[in-house]
Formats: sequence, C-alpha cells, structure tokens
Amino acid sequence: MSFGQQLIDWRRELHQHPELSLQEFETTRRIRHWLENAGLKLLPLNLPTGVVAEVGRGEKVIALRADIDALPIEEKVDVPFASRNAGVMHACGHDIHSSVMLGAALLLKQKESQLAGRVRILFQPAEESFGGAKRLISAGALDNVRAIFGMHNEPGLPVGSFATRGGAFYANVDRFSLTVSGKGAHAARPHEGNDAILLASQLVVALQSIASRNVNTLESVVLSVTRIQGGNTWNVLPEQVELEGTLRTHRQTVRDNVTKRVNDIAAGLAQAFNAQIDVRWFAGPTALVNDDSWATFARDVADGHGYQTQEADLHMGGEDFAVYLQQIPGAFVSIGSHSEYGLHHPAFNPDEALIEQAARYFALLAEKALLQP
Ligand code: NI
Repeated sequence: MSFGQQLIDWRRELHQHPELSLQEFETTRRIRHWLENAGLKLLPLNLPTGVVAEVGRGEKVIALRADIDALPIEEKVDVPFASRNAGVMHACGHDIHSSVMLGAALLLKQKESQLAGRVRILFQPAEESFGGAKRLISAGALDNVRAIFGMHNEPGLPVGSFATRGGAFYANVDRFSLTVSGKGAHAARPHEGNDAILLASQLVVALQSIASRNVNTLESVVLSVTRIQGGNTWNVLPEQVELEGTLRTHRQTVRDNVTKRVNDIAAGLAQAFNAQIDVRWFAGPTALVNDDSWATFARDVADGHGYQTQEADLHMGGEDFAVYLQQIPGAFVSIGSHSEYGLHHPAFNPDEALIEQAARYFALLAEKALLQP
C-alpha cells in the first residue's frame, strides 16, 4: 500500500470512530498502536487520552501538534467510512490533522539518524472543549521544546494552498451569561410587576452598540447574544430572563474595554429599570499569536514544498493551540481542504488529498526547524 493510501486509511478509521473531548480512549489506543508499529518512541506521560511520540536525539526539540477529538454532531455525509458513533462526528477534521501528523512522524522516523535534534509529535485531546493543551503542558509535553507547529484544515481554500500570518491569528474567546431579574406579574397588569423580557430586549440592543460605537472600527470584535430564555406561557410576565453569548476579539485592550462596557451597560440598565442584571464571564482560549519569524519560516518552507501560499486573514474562531504559543514560540497554519460545507457542519467533507502533501510538509518543516540557529 502506498504511503498516502495508508494515511487515508488511518484517517477513515479515525473518522468512523469519533470520540468527544476527553473521551478519546479508542482514538488514543489506535494512534498509539500505529505509532508503536512504526517503531516510534512514546513518551511516558501520565495522560488518560492523547499521545506524545518522539524521534531523533539531541538537545534541540521541535514539536508538531495534532488534535484528536470530535464534535457532538450527527454526520450527514454519505460515505462508507461515515461515523459509526451516533451523534458524534469528526466535523472539524481533527481526523485529518491526526493522520497528517502520523504521516509526519513516520517520515521523520525514516530519517531519524539525519535529524539535528528531536521532534516531538503531540496528539492532543480536548481541543473542542479547550483545555487539552493545558493538560499536555502540565504533563511535560513542552519541556525543552524550542518551537511548536500545528495546522487546521481550511475548507474555504483549495487543496494545495497554505495560509498563515505573523502576530494575532485566532481570537480571544469569551463566553458570558446574563441573568435579568425583574418581578413577575399578570400579563394584563404589567404595572404590578417589573418586565424582565422588556429589559432583556433593551439589553440585547444596547450590547450591539458596543462594537459599532465603543470600539475603533479598525479593530476586530464580535459580540453575539446566542441564547435568550424567559417565560413559559402567553399570559404571565416572567420573573427572570437568561441570556448567553460570546465575545471574540484579537487585542487584549479591546477585550478589556468591551468586557467593561458589557458590565457597565448591564449595571446602568438595571439601575434605570430598577431591576437586577447579573453578568458572569467564562474565559476561553486567548488569542492565538504566531511568532513572526517562525510564521515566515513556515511559509517559506511551504513555498519550497509546492504550496500556493498566502497571508491568512484574521480568524474570529478560537483555537486551543494558542495556549502552547503563550509558553513557547511557533506558528499555526491553515491548509486547504476544500469542502462545500464548512467546519462543524454535519455535511463537512474535506478532501483527503491534502493529507500526504501536508504530512511531507510537516516532516520537512520540523527537519528544517532543527537546523535553525
Ligand atoms: Ni478544529
């Protein structure tokens, strides 16, 4: 079997058996098995799910990272290797990323004696739920690593294309929840209550003024209210309304400013309407910030490898890889996977043709990165 076909077969096997964040036990078992069969050394890190392999010897260490978890989505793709786990799907292509880094590991193993150091390959659990990177770091996966590289497939780009950028790339992800507490009443006698639905509606509209009126238009910001719940019948004004949403930014000053405006607007409206609004924030991953020189290096290697390269646009999504880049330099890159339906869509169907080229690219990238002073 050709090398490329082997990687596609592995991808399909992972695709058939997707597992949610921190439940990647079978995925871990499979990846371990394939790596061990290829003679790769696995690091004895204490990880319930996820695997870290290493090739080469010496002081210098370069890391490559794949993510291995899937999403709670029912697959709507008619292929023989469709998900066999009901309600779970590799709808973000982490099966692709895993097969790419498996391929890179095998290629590096073949030239182990020529490597100018060690390459550590991280198969990270829990990217979707954010937190897997932190677990790997706590287990020691980044110890002595000089630089780390990772990829996400990009369904909007054709196979054979590559994009990255120096500096901020993926966004800071924050979740917020708002509880509006008024006073319930008969719907026909609203003056006896304090209408939480009216106040919640004012709140949604007021929050939308932040991006347009409090943030420099040249900065990136998204504030979305994504859930609003209150009341359970037509003739009663409810006591409480709950709202939930997300804030995405790239710059910390913008993040701080918008957070403060949300809090201030909630407090001000609560006072104006003589009600109570509680705001709670849950911080997700921080912005993914590529090292300028490693991003340029990764793009140069991609140019030499036959990719059509371009400067990546800013991305409003979050990516747990950001956590590694807070500790050590490196670069995250996008590789074209051409799918009609995008990431996290039940009909997402990336083109497997990207796998072999990307595997060869990451092996080359790690090999060349070890030669950097
Ligand atoms: Ni993903």
